[in-house]
Amino acid sequence: MATAATYSTSRSEAAYEAAQEVISGGVNSGARGPQAGWIPGPPVVARGEGALVWDVDGNRYVDYLLALGPMIHGHRHPQMTAAVRDAIESIGTMFALPYELEAQAARAIVEAVPSVELVRFGNSGTEVVLHACRIARAATGKDVIVRFEGQYHGWADQLEWSHHPPLAAAGLARSPRAVPGSPGIPEAFGKTLAVLPWNDVDAVERLVKRRGHEIAAILTEPIMGNTGVIPPARGYLEALREITRANDIVLIFDEVISGFRVAYGGAQAYYGVTPDLTTMAKALGGGFPVAAVGGRRDLMEVVADGEVLHAGTYNANTVAVAAAAASLEVLRQPGIYERLFATAERLTAGIGDVFERAGVPVEVQGVGPMFQFWFSKTPIADYRAAAPHLNSPKYAALARELHRRGVLVHPSNIELWFVSTVHNDALVDETLAAFEDAVRAAGAALRD
Ligand SMILES: Cc1ncc(COP(=O)(O)O)c(C=O)c1O
Repeated sequence: MATAATYSTSRSEAAYEAAQEVISGGVNSGARGPQAGWIPGPPVVARGEGALVWDVDGNRYVDYLLALGPMIHGHRHPQMTAAVRDAIESIGTMFALPYELEAQAARAIVEAVPSVELVRFGNSGTEVVLHACRIARAATGKDVIVRFEGQYHGWADQLEWSHHPPLAAAGLARSPRAVPGSPGIPEAFGKTLAVLPWNDVDAVERLVKRRGHEIAAILTEPIMGNTGVIPPARGYLEALREITRANDIVLIFDEVISGFRVAYGGAQAYYGVTPDLTTMAKALGGGFPVAAVGGRRDLMEVVADGEVLHAGTYNANTVAVAAAAASLEVLRQPGIYERLFATAERLTAGIGDVFERAGVPVEVQGVGPMFQFWFSKTPIADYRAAAPHLNSPKYAALARELHRRGVLVHPSNIELWFVSTVHNDALVDETLAAFEDAVRAAGAALRD
């Protein structure tokens, strides 16, 4: 374990500076640079193995960033690597023609996820959410997609709205204004969305009563995982199910994070609520780029004859498909989710205890191996409640102390902690010892 005294980042800093000569901002996604909280710059990775990552300075970290979710089997899982290598060596990489492994992987998804009767593969969460929206619009003949404040459904112009809007621009809490998440997003896309607060059944009922005839789909993460973690209130997902069913509205669960993570059948299996369409990525590929949209046969069939377009040169390439098949095979091992949840429980209970001993009030929120904690005295149920705590300087100060002690987490609390199937009790105990020390070191910075 790194100790705070020996921690050095000079090589990372030099490598990050060199990268900026040729990569805009030195990183290839907005979540990886200083603007996302990695100050002065991110650790530059040398390699990962299992639940561990080493940076170019030789610092060793227990990894709870897990690439923002995909690495459910940890890094370089032998079965994953072997499956992908075999596919490349024995099949090839892509053909623009079908091959047999595709249907095998699709069958595994259909057997795993309760709502899914047919699937189509894609390469990223962003893409498959767009496809789900197109299918819903084509099937219903309506245009408006309902999305919720604080959720993220990928970076596309159509949906990157009201993700973390400044409250001054966001309108009333009960009827928020759609706020684009970036310059460069045309205003016109906002008119195809209706934005609502999450965990508020009344708000959904009121909107649907007024505009149900325009609404193609309600799109939601079943567990909000892009504003820390906000679990659904009891009965909330069930209410969304009833309202959508009664009003010819497609219910889309964006399970890009929760899929295969909180249960083999995803959040829909965990909560027992079946959407019409589901999007999946991250844990599906176990660290390889693959995504899928799936759902009710009659809905998915709208793309079957090609009249409604679903396309993509790289869709279902052999690397993606072999990874998905292997990831699900590993996740079918008996007892794997029980172990994953037990490891996560040991960690979250330990974190709660550390804060209690330190006299720092926090709310630890999550579902098994996806969780986050808020420096709040009350539970957080929606974006407006979370907003004052987002990008918390307390959290950033603590994250910095954790990094110095060999625990890798994102420095912003809008992201979350993930646990993999290869984290074990010894690594959790090591983490908790580092955590206690980090809380002590952050000291006054954690108190009001
Ligand atoms: C719920 C959800 N949907 C969609 C996406 C977009 O996925 P990708 O980054 O693979 O495009 C993400 C990414 O974090 C996500 O969390």
